[in-house]
Amino acid sequence: MSASVEVRFLPGPFIADVKPGSTLLAAARKARAPLEAPCDGAGICGKCRVWLDPEALTALESDVEVGGGNGQGALVLACDARVRADIAATIPDRGDKNLAIVDHGLATARSLAPHIAVVHAPDGCTVWAGQELIASLPSAVANLGIAVDIGTTTLVVALVDLDSGSELAVASALNPQTAYGHDVLSRIHFAAERDGLPTMQRALVDGLNVLIRQVCQRAGVDASHIHEAVLGGNTCMLHIAAAVDPAPLGRSPYRPSLTGGSHLRAAELGLGIAAHGLAYLPPVVSGFVGADITAGILATDLHRSQQTVLLLDIGTNGEMVLAHAGELWATSTAAGPAFEGVNIECGMRAAHGAVDAVTASGGNWELHAIGDVPAIGICGSGLVDLVSCLVRSGAIGRNGRFATKAAPPVGNWDEREGRCLLRLSREVVLTQKDVRQVQLAKAAIRAGLDALLAGAKVRRQDVERVLVAGSFGYHLRPDSLAGSGLLPGSLAAKVEAVGNTCKAGAITLLTNDDTRRELKAVTARVRSIELANDAAFGRRFVEQMAFGDAST
Ligand code: FES
Repeated sequence: MSASVEVRFLPGPFIADVKPGSTLLAAARKARAPLEAPCDGAGICGKCRVWLDPEALTALESDVEVGGGNGQGALVLACDARVRADIAATIPDRGDKNLAIVDHGLATARSLAPHIAVVHAPDGCTVWAGQELIASLPSAVANLGIAVDIGTTTLVVALVDLDSGSELAVASALNPQTAYGHDVLSRIHFAAERDGLPTMQRALVDGLNVLIRQVCQRAGVDASHIHEAVLGGNTCMLHIAAAVDPAPLGRSPYRPSLTGGSHLRAAELGLGIAAHGLAYLPPVVSGFVGADITAGILATDLHRSQQTVLLLDIGTNGEMVLAHAGELWATSTAAGPAFEGVNIECGMRAAHGAVDAVTASGGNWELHAIGDVPAIGICGSGLVDLVSCLVRSGAIGRNGRFATKAAPPVGNWDEREGRCLLRLSREVVLTQKDVRQVQLAKAAIRAGLDALLAGAKVRRQDVERVLVAGSFGYHLRPDSLAGSGLLPGSLAAKVEAVGNTCKAGAITLLTNDDTRRELKAVTARVRSIELANDAAFGRRFVEQMAFGDAST
């Protein structure tokens, strides 16, 4: 047997030499191929499938389970398939180039007073960061900065003119780290592997640099004129961006090594901006309430609100902050990846072909797919709409089981291997297991919300506004939030979508230096409710598993 085999991924080329017996997933990671592994190789998520032609199938070890084979080739799980000879595998197109990413958010206007100043002189210019001289340049440069939202799933970069405060261009893409796990915990696990942290940090920075080049090209400016980057993101994303080991975030007491509110040299991180450029990391509250949320507090002015206001960002974690009587309370609950399409049979991200809205009335029902193309899967907002329709009609019972005696309001009942499922189209189905995943996510969010309200001693009916941040929240209909039970009906009626407040807050931090001190002081007084230490959380979670309390 040869000492190594060559694995080639298409479209590419992404090539790696690995030892015989290695999995295709290990080879993909070595080749830095864009293959996703949301469950980090546990064989659960089913999203690491690659296509092998008949010849390639013979290069696998014989005990690999092959699904969907028809003599023309087959899809196999890359984390399950071990190679014994040279092989080529094709990564199916997931439509990620057409991701629907929300790249705008509401922000309270502040005066223009950036941290960075460029002072022009006849023989060039000097660049100042506050009182510190960071560069003396022989010729004039523009005064530019970037605001960055490092999401667990997506990246957004906005180019800002620091002399006018105006946004010149924005670009977004999938976070390349999705190849190393879908959620924060799988990234923490991957970081612990040999070269895991530098591999993910490089992948992230490479992805950001692509977006930096894009915004510069769109605005017709040079990246060397960008003197500062403000990096918003959850606590784990900031650790990885700064190449700081995120391991402490994965074990009790879940304390971050990096608390933000500080500058780093952008060049040391590998960011493609001016050689003298700085990277500012906003402050974080805790291991699970990060700079995306503190930036959101700043953008929405939550800390100065006279009302009782809930800020909610639903993703793989449900992060929430409550402003009440001059105080801020925060928590984060593990919602799981269902709303990102993971662990859902036909789940996918909000890209072309994803069902993002489902409506039913008077016996008629309709699916809307992003891009107005035939539906190939269902994304988070479509899933919430669908479950809401089914719960309201009684086609899903309080316990989450399909009630198949009556016709469903949407789609048709069908059966596969003795199990009932709901068929929406030839390609798109909803299984009982999918409903269970929604139930778990809903229970986590509702139990987290109950814990937050209890900690702050605030009654549900006293919450006056509910600000829903983030891409997923932007597309959720209040009616479906209530119908699916993701929010109590009384709060769903008060929902306002505020969009990408991480990016909006990062722009505020770029353009107004005083807000950095302000946010640091605000962050220090946020009261964090750690659900891991909350004895009542388990009971609340079980109570919230039931569907059907939309009116409360
Ligand atoms: S099934 Fe292979 S990574 Fe999840």
